[in-house]
Amino acid sequence: MERTFAIIKPDAVERNIVGKVLEKVETAGFRIVGMKKIQLSKKEAEGFYYVHKERPFFGDLCSFMSRSPVVVMVLERENAIAGWREVMGATNPANADAGTIRKEFGLGIEENTVHGSDSPESAAFEIPYFFSQLELF
Ligand code: RTP
Ligand code: MG
Repeated sequence: MERTFAIIKPDAVERNIVGKVLEKVETAGFRIVGMKKIQLSKKEAEGFYYVHKERPFFGDLCSFMSRSPVVVMVLERENAIAGWREVMGATNPANADAGTIRKEFGLGIEENTVHGSDSPESAAFEIPYFFSQLELF
């Protein structure tokens, strides 16, 4: 069993499609180990996405991620990290495979509905950024 970290991003929470995303999560066989709704400060978004701090889209990305609440989750399944990224689809919804979350719900390359850890190292940073052991079941 493996754990990954996921976010339902502001564009999805604003459009009231959290339930539609969660249906994809559960249909794909993930167990929800932890989940909460929070609103990131700009600083917290910058800390979370620090690996992108030199990228041209960093400022816009951190403004987007902190503009309204998100749902953060820890998901468990076999091969959870790669598996969740398959369920999400490509970063740009225009390039995402049919049936993926980003293809169905993504609005564009930035407002792409969901986040997922991209490696075991990322998951090991991202999960404790948001959750204490006492919040994971
Ligand atoms: P994520 O980290 O959110 O799961 O997405 P990802 O791995 O598929 O993509 P990544 O390269 O890590 O980019 C992080 C997020 O930044 C926004 N982005 N905007 N304007 C742009 O060119 C651009 N490129 C990326 C997206 O919200 C992307 O998910
Ligand atoms: Mg990424």
